[in-house]
Amino acid sequence: MSDLLPPVGASVEGEQADAELLLSPSELYHENSKLHPSNRRLGLWIDSINRSPEIRRFLSRPTTRFYGYPTVVLPRDLRPSPLPFETIVMERRSRHRFSGKPLALATLAQILLLGDGVSARVRAADGIEWALRTAPSGGGLYPVELYCVAWRVDGLAPGLYHYDPTAHTLAQVRPGEFRQVLAEATYLHRELEEAAACLVLSAVFGRSKFKYGERAYRFVLLEAGHIAQNVLLAATAVGCGGLPVGGFTDDRVNELLDVDGVREAALYLVVLGGEP
Ligand SMILES: Cc1cc2nc3c(=O)[nH]c(=O)nc-3n(C[C@H](O)[C@H](O)[C@H](O)COP(=O)(O)O)c2cc1C
Repeated sequence: MSDLLPPVGASVEGEQADAELLLSPSELYHENSKLHPSNRRLGLWIDSINRSPEIRRFLSRPTTRFYGYPTVVLPRDLRPSPLPFETIVMERRSRHRFSGKPLALATLAQILLLGDGVSARVRAADGIEWALRTAPSGGGLYPVELYCVAWRVDGLAPGLYHYDPTAHTLAQVRPGEFRQVLAEATYLHRELEEAAACLVLSAVFGRSKFKYGERAYRFVLLEAGHIAQNVLLAATAVGCGGLPVGGFTDDRVNELLDVDGVREAALYLVVLGGEP
């Protein structure tokens, strides 16, 4: 405990200050999700999951599927960037101005593929095939889903789409102009007016939590960060602007995705558009 705080019991104010500190939800959460060598239960549970072929088979297909929805097959060919990797990293910036011009479908496809697409398929010793992605994921459980709200993408009718990384397709969840919903949720009216699309990263928490318990929430947020950084660098590489957005009215975006905000919730947005 910091020297700046009065000793416990020194005064009513001191006790109150301690109580406030202990009751901070984020501190309580962090404390309760720490791993300790003395706690073997979580380790044994994870071992038992890793040894079960039935569970492993189930876990190796971790994507939400929109069966029967109109589907757009995305181009797979990657256009090599004219910029070297070092320049891409140094030039990534959060953009607040966009060109207002449409984004090519091939550009969006490349950003999705590099953002969280399947980069390798490996067969484990037990014969189960795993589709590994460009972004790492604790236990390969891939709890983060990618939605795309498109309003200015060539070849895509305006609407809400869901990205299936295994098939590299976009399923049209709902047609419509949802830019205004995002503008009201983020207050980024001008940015969205000029941009072309916005990716919404959501998390299906149970996919990781059933294995890692309370620790899973940390993993999920870390994974969303990995994916968002991939997206931002991929966008920079093809001359597309990106803006990561963590400040939004949760309920509004969850309603847009039609998720309950508890079992699945929106975590992070990435606005995409042409560089001005
Ligand atoms: C987790 C996170 C949340 C952010 N949320 C917002 C946001 O809600 N609105 C916004 O305009 N920028 C947002 N940003 C962008 C930051 O303002 C930006 O990254 C920062 O100013 C540094 O600039 P740079 O990204 O160009 O290096 C966010 C960035 C991060 C990493």
